[in-house]
Amino acid sequence: MKLPVTLSLDPDSGTIQFIDQTRLPGNLEIVECTTVKRLAAAIRNLEIRGAPALGVAGGFGIALAAFRIRKTDRAGFLDALKKDGDLLIGTRPTAINLSWGVRKVLQAVEQEDSIPSMRDAAVQEALAIAREDEACCRAIGDHGAALLPNHGTVLTHCNAGALACSTYGTALGVIRSAVAQGKDIRVIACETRPLLQGARLTAWELVQDGIDTTVITDSMAAGMMQSGRIDCAVVGADRITHDAVFNKIGTYMHAVCAKHHGVPFYVAAPLSTFDAERSADDIVIEERAREEVATCGSRMTVPEGAKVYNPSFDATPMELITAVITERGLVTPPVDMKAFISRHTIR
Ligand code: MRU
Repeated sequence: MKLPVTLSLDPDSGTIQFIDQTRLPGNLEIVECTTVKRLAAAIRNLEIRGAPALGVAGGFGIALAAFRIRKTDRAGFLDALKKDGDLLIGTRPTAINLSWGVRKVLQAVEQEDSIPSMRDAAVQEALAIAREDEACCRAIGDHGAALLPNHGTVLTHCNAGALACSTYGTALGVIRSAVAQGKDIRVIACETRPLLQGARLTAWELVQDGIDTTVITDSMAAGMMQSGRIDCAVVGADRITHDAVFNKIGTYMHAVCAKHHGVPFYVAAPLSTFDAERSADDIVIEERAREEVATCGSRMTVPEGAKVYNPSFDATPMELITAVITERGLVTPPVDMKAFISRHTIR
């Protein structure tokens, strides 16, 4: 199993290296990032994407900032770090992991008195986030693998794989662990319009692992469920409130179809994706540029004059979800999600 390392931090310089995910599957390009501004652009452009990877990027971004800020007084240094944190958090509003990663590292920095020790704390905490993310993904994989049937066909949407995390993946972590246990699993990867994270990234990862993968357009999933060709679905999440799972646009459509056809619908996510403070109605769904829908490569696919609506995520109500697979085990709605989230979410 050849797992990509999505992003890494040089502890001596604060420089970040990341895989530019917009270039996959054609080109595997590693970018060296030396400024917070460049990191913010990479997140905005989806060069780095996926909720847990955004958490790691947020943490790494504060560590990078700690090497670049030239202030010599503690208060000024901290103030400048927080401004860089705000810049990063402002890039994408829906995945809660981004603000979680930024705040976690800022909290560690605030415990320290001198600038060198603040810098050191930022690096250590940021690296810990990445390490813990991998451990969470592997634990999610272990908990979820038992849910996948042997000789089963599993549908997934978007990319909740190694590329969306520090490595290994959440939804793809479940699939990887099931395969590692010797199960024969076939994956249906929905292409995930408009930016094709399923076709480009999920299929790329799974093919490298030698896992049987078929890409379908998103609109083919319902028919496959109707004809009994999907045994279960497993997807990731960008934010989980007590009443809904926010994930890539199209997830809700698959969940409705799954419920209708009696197909189990699983969500795999670490506790850093849970939001204890808000309900579904409070969450901002990112809307992205017209061009993402209105063009295909350099070709125009929508005439000028036609409006385009391009929300990046949708909300799947809890009652459509069979179980949420976390690093601490399964949560099965209608368990009291509110109580579960406030018990397990550390902010
Ligand atoms: O817009 P993206 O590509 O960042 O959206 C990613 C998703 O919706 C993923 O499914 C989600 O972040 C879970 S990743 C483990």
